Amino acid sequence: MNKVTVSRKAHFNAAHRLYRKDWSDAKNEEIFDKCSNPYYHGHNYELIVSVSGDIDPETGYVMDMKFLKDLIKVHIEDAFDHKNLNEQVPEFATRIPTAENMAVVIWDKLRPHITTAYELSVTLYETPRNFVQFSGPN
Ligand code: NI
Repeated sequence: MNKVTVSRKAHFNAAHRLYRKDWSDAKNEEIFDKCSNPYYHGHNYELIVSVSGDIDPETGYVMDMKFLKDLIKVHIEDAFDHKNLNEQVPEFATRIPTAENMAVVIWDKLRPHITTAYELSVTLYETPRNFVQFSGPN
């Protein structure tokens, strides 16, 4: 079969702060620099969700992009957009909201809604030049 990857781009704004409560302010600043700013700061996140699978011979689709669009809207945009990730998103109550951890959280939130016939990969841009990718646990 021909395995094809289809992707949907999405966008959200969110604020965060990178720090560890068990570290001193000095250590947090040394490791996380400006990202440990106690007053938080924001990013314009760009998210790419990619799904790989066989082309359905009936529709010619790998997946209906409307389905993927709605999935991202409900589970990611509605949960993260215009939020303070540290304070308002439960997944980051005990996990530092780095782009790396965010990609894992996004993957974990989407995976249960996409059947195992598909592979799922998440790419998250924190800035136009810095981005991370997660395709599931090894
Ligand atoms: Ni940041």
